[in-house]
Amino acid sequence: MTSYIFINRKINSYKKKIEVTSDKSISIRCILLASLAVGISRISNLLESEDVLNSLKAIKKLGIDYKKKKNFFEIKGLGLNGYKPKKNTIINAGNSGTLARCIIGICAKIKNQIKIVGDKSLSKRDFSRVTEPLKNFGLKIKSKNGFLPVQIQGSNFLRPIKFLENKGSAQIKTSLIFCGLNTPGTTIIRAKKSRNHTELLLKNLKIPIKVKSKGNYDDIEIRGLNQFKAFNYDVPGDISSASFFIVLTLLSKKSELLIKKVNINKTRLGIIKILNMMNAKIKLQNKRFYKGEEIADIFVKSKNNFKSINCPSSLNSSAIDELLLIICLVSAKAKGISIFKDLGELNKKESKRLDIAIKFLKMIGIKTVRKKDNIKVYGNPNLKLSGKYDVRNFLKDHRVFMMSTVAALTLGGDWKIHDKNSIKTSFPKFLNILDKLGAKINWKKEKI
Ligand code: S3P
Repeated sequence: MTSYIFINRKINSYKKKIEVTSDKSISIRCILLASLAVGISRISNLLESEDVLNSLKAIKKLGIDYKKKKNFFEIKGLGLNGYKPKKNTIINAGNSGTLARCIIGICAKIKNQIKIVGDKSLSKRDFSRVTEPLKNFGLKIKSKNGFLPVQIQGSNFLRPIKFLENKGSAQIKTSLIFCGLNTPGTTIIRAKKSRNHTELLLKNLKIPIKVKSKGNYDDIEIRGLNQFKAFNYDVPGDISSASFFIVLTLLSKKSELLIKKVNINKTRLGIIKILNMMNAKIKLQNKRFYKGEEIADIFVKSKNNFKSINCPSSLNSSAIDELLLIICLVSAKAKGISIFKDLGELNKKESKRLDIAIKFLKMIGIKTVRKKDNIKVYGNPNLKLSGKYDVRNFLKDHRVFMMSTVAALTLGGDWKIHDKNSIKTSFPKFLNILDKLGAKINWKKEKI
């Protein structure tokens, strides 16, 4: 059974305040860290999406209890080295690369072998990027040529490593930091800058971690084997989920939107910087800090004179989930040719997002030129659609579904967009919020 939505009307103008769903990266990290802490952690506003629920199921399989209370989850951590998985435990990470990659690092000491599996999309993604450096700690890891299923056998004789992470991947960095927590001595990672929620959480938990910024890299040192106490955390809104509503508002007529309580950590702010360089004039209001993370309300208004951009690739990592997907809609409407470079990592996501964005732009009549991982988008400020569009999304990528929905609601035309269920991965309330803004969307289920 698959499901699709049908849209044949642009969204009318609106002036609203909304809250988007809680941050997925922070939710998953809180669960994994709470499972390693000593005592009961309380996490409020945890994102209740499939990736996060799979993270809860994963720690349960490692012998960690959790309970849902009113608006928070209680997780009963058993400390470093506290996991007790049964023999032949299988952890299904579903669609989540973050969960699958980070849990390998966190299982550094487990005695029984465990196996990590995932869905069709995750099974096509490379795991050697984490398994190879993790093997240097002394973990025994087997995989199918770098792909799932991955089997892990922990070790009591871990040794710290020195590693250069140069993809700008927070998943690799986090997996290695987690392994470093269980390893005697000091693990040293020079990592190309990427989202830093793990480092901020650890600093907040008073775990000995040092981070020194050096140009586009961070030098990270983590001293292992320090037990830490359970903690409370209130998860802020996810800027990657907010990005769909930011672009929806920019591209719709005479609308204004205030998105409350969103994480604007500078390692995630690429989307705002890129859109503002294109003349979006998005404002961050009521800025405040919470446990090292910067939070704000985002104010955005409709616009119709976007400039093209020569996007500095130093912004790629901080907009990794927005490139080129939701951003391609704004470059499609911009005056002139937008240039995006070094986008190779995008084809290693839930689906091949660079290929998909180019195909999508072609479908809506926008010329693109690709040279290796660099792309030029020939914008058309007068872009208006009237044809029929059918979006099938083979690997059911949640962000491809949401980007297509925003295109349908702002550019015109008759759209059938498949794989509605994919939003459960990160943003189950996506369609409910669109409904609140007045979008007319019909949805149906069909057998395939
Ligand atoms: C994430 C890191 C990013 C991002 C993913 C979430 C994380 O992946 O695309 O959605 O929570 O660490 P990479 O680290 O592989 O770039």
